[in-house]
Amino acid sequence: ATGQLRDSLARPLRDLRISVTDRCNFRCSYCMPKEVFGKDYPYLPHAELLTFEEITRLARQFVAHGVHKIRLTGGEPLLRKNIEILIEQLSQLRTVEGEPVELALTTNGSLLARKAAALKQAGLRRVTVSLDGLDDAVFRRMNDVDFPVAEVLRGLEAAAAAGLGPLKVNMVVKRGTNEHEIVPMARHFRGTGIVLRFIEYMDVGATNGWRMDEVLPSADVVQRLQEVFPLRALEPTAPGETAERWAYEDGAGEIGVISSVTQAFCGTCNRARLSTEGRLYLCLFADQGHDLRALVRGGASDEQLASAIAHIWHGRADRYSQLRSQLPPDAGKGRKRVEMSYIGG
Ligand code: GTP
Ligand code: 5AD
Ligand code: SF4
Ligand code: SF4
Repeated sequence: ATGQLRDSLARPLRDLRISVTDRCNFRCSYCMPKEVFGKDYPYLPHAELLTFEEITRLARQFVAHGVHKIRLTGGEPLLRKNIEILIEQLSQLRTVEGEPVELALTTNGSLLARKAAALKQAGLRRVTVSLDGLDDAVFRRMNDVDFPVAEVLRGLEAAAAAGLGPLKVNMVVKRGTNEHEIVPMARHFRGTGIVLRFIEYMDVGATNGWRMDEVLPSADVVQRLQEVFPLRALEPTAPGETAERWAYEDGAGEIGVISSVTQAFCGTCNRARLSTEGRLYLCLFADQGHDLRALVRGGASDEQLASAIAHIWHGRADRYSQLRSQLPPDAGKGRKRVEMSYIGG
C-alpha cells in the first residue's frame, strides 16, 4: 500500500471511525429514542462483534492506506468491556510516515470520571465529550435517562487532569429544545482550553423523526454568539475537517460549528466508518456497508484485506449531505439508512 488511495471524487482516506458497540446508557431523542430502543431492542449478540484482534488487524490495513486518525465511537464506546486493551493495541499502529496514529474517542462522558486515567495510560490521545446543555433539567430531558450534568462535567475534569486533551465538547443544537443553552455553554467553556462545537441536528438514521424546522443553522448560532462574544473566523487546521473554526476576539480560545445540513462538507470528506460488526460504510448516511468481517473470518490474508479496502474506496462516490441540500427539505424521509448508534456518528 502506498497511502495515496483516492476515491472516485479524488478524496483521500485519512480518518477511520470505529464503532465498538451499538449500545448506550443514554437515550438521546435525536439518536436512540426510547420508543424504538426499548427493553426488547435487538442489539448485536456478542459473537457478531468484531473482536479486538479483528479490529486491530483491519485498522492496520487502513493505516497502511493512509489513515492518520482513528476515532472510537459507538453507541457509547466506554461500555465496551476492556476497551483499554483495544486502545493499547491500536496505539501501537504507525502511519505511512512512521508517526503514531492519532487515537481519539467520542463519549457521552458518563463513565469518564472513572476511566480517564486508565484510557490515557492505555495510549488514548484525546477525547471529545457530548454535552447538550448546562441546565440540568434540559440535559436530563435530552439524555432521557435522567443523567445529571454534574457527572459529565466531572468526567471532563478527569479527562483534563489525565492529559486527554485538547478536549472538545460537542453540543447538538435543536431549535426549541436547547437553543437557549448556546450562550451559557459558550460562557462556561470560554477560557478553559476546551473547544466547544455546535452541531446542526442531522437527519441521520430513520428513527429520530427529524424535521428541518428543528435545525438551527450554524450561521444563526454564530450570530447569536457574536452579539455576546465577538468572534473572528479561523483557517482550517486540516483539509476535510468537520468543523468550521472561530476564535473569540478577546483571546478566550475557539469554538467550532459543524454544519452538515446547511453547508455540507462532503467535497473533502476523508472518513471511513467501520461498524461494530465489521461492515465498512463510506458515508454516515449510507444504507449499506461492505462486509469486511466475512473476509477476516473467511481466512483472507493481509494483502487480500488491503486490496479489498482499496477497491471499495476507489469506487466511493458518496456525498449525501451535498445531494440532500439540493432536494426539498423532507425528501430523505422513509429512506433506508443505518442508525447513528450502529455506525458511530
Ligand atoms: P475531530 O475533528 O477529530 O475533533 O472530530 P470529528 O469532528 O471528526 O468527530 P466527532 O465524533 O466529534 O463528530 C462531531 C460531529 O460531526 C458529530 O455529530 C458527527 O456525527 C459529525 N460528523 C463527523 N463526521 C462526519 C461526516 O463525515 N459527515 C457528517 N455529515 N457528519 C459528520
Ligand atoms: N445530529 C447531529 N449530531 C448527532 N449526534 C448524534 N446524533 C446526532 C444527530 N442526529 C452526535 C452526538 C455525538 C456525535 C458523535 O454525534 O451527540 O456528539
Ligand atoms: Fe448515546 Fe451518544 Fe446516541 Fe446520546 S448521542 S444516545 S449518548 S450514542
Ligand atoms: Fe462524508 Fe457522507 Fe458526511 Fe458527506 S454526508 S461528509 S460524504 S459522511
